[in-house]
Amino acid sequence: MPKKKNTASSLNKEKFLIIGAGNMGIAVIKSLFNHRISSKKIVVIEKNQSSELKKLKRSNNFEIKNSIDKINNLYQPTITLIAVKPNQLKTLNGLDKDNRLGNSIIVSVVAGKKIKDLNKVFKKTSGIVRAMTNTPVSVNMGTTIVYFERKIKTKQKKPIFDFMSLLGQVSETKKEDLIDDFTAIFGSGPAYIYLFINSLIEIANKSGFKNSDSMVLQTFLGSILLLLSGQKKPSDLQKKVTSKGGTTEAALSILASNKGLKSLLTRAVNKATKRSRELSKIS
Ligand SMILES: NC(=O)c1ccc[n+]([C@@H]2O[C@H](COP(=O)([O-])OP(=O)(O)OC[C@H]3O[C@@H](n4cnc5c(N)ncnc54)[C@H](OP(=O)(O)O)[C@@H]3O)[C@@H](O)[C@H]2O)c1
Repeated sequence: MPKKKNTASSLNKEKFLIIGAGNMGIAVIKSLFNHRISSKKIVVIEKNQSSELKKLKRSNNFEIKNSIDKINNLYQPTITLIAVKPNQLKTLNGLDKDNRLGNSIIVSVVAGKKIKDLNKVFKKTSGIVRAMTNTPVSVNMGTTIVYFERKIKTKQKKPIFDFMSLLGQVSETKKEDLIDDFTAIFGSGPAYIYLFINSLIEIANKSGFKNSDSMVLQTFLGSILLLLSGQKKPSDLQKKVTSKGGTTEAALSILASNKGLKSLLTRAVNKATKRSRELSKIS
């Protein structure tokens, strides 16, 4: 887990511009406030303010404008988050024409948009970072990967790691292509886990349990906490539950067979990676 206190204090020097305050943008704004970043250092550009955004503004009193030219030009952001939908990226063309983003690193979470696409939209910046994350960001438990444009220097990376760490865990990739694999494994990952949970709930319901939902959730939560509480690997704990000739071994003879869960997940992830690459080409 990131060290929240140090992370936040290192971000006190930064000035943030958030472009697009939908699901993702709002999760970021909330986490900045949760880490006591001053409302004077957060400016938001959003065309259609949702009731959630308005509520957030009422309690934190930060600036929201519908375009960059409405922002006081003395406000020079150092970190700009781009959180619009992929098909809306083109609406940001020319945004940096007055050199408003010249001192800013651009962090794009826009799915499928490569550094070369982003460079066409943002021409005068301190550098561009692609970040991909997943839905648990809304509870600050996201898994994020970042890819830095080559011109970004090591010392410029620290505030970006700290910024994205507000939303959970962050790793760097030196290969931009790996973002498609990340999307297929970790971006879509929560859906795989929910499918697994739901399948067990349905099986438990069929067996006649009355509170299958909470029993299955507790089994997941307990297994994860048990794993995190020790130094053991998942495979060690799996072996520990599996006695010779017992019930778990009977189930694993199907789930862990050659055509079992790993093979099925590999096929699923490969198909998702292929789709992610296709979408990057057409988005
Ligand atoms: N949600 C996630 O967990 C997640 C995870 C990974 C990546 N992402 C990526 O993050 C991006 C945002 O996703 P989201 O779910 O937050 O989308 P969203 O809820 O649609 O939010 C985007 C917001 O940006 C606004 N907007 C569009 N163009 C604008 C402009 N030119 N100026 C100001 N505001 C503008 C949109 O307004 P309108 O009402 O006009 O559309 C909308 O409110 C996507 O590219 C997605 O791929 C999201």
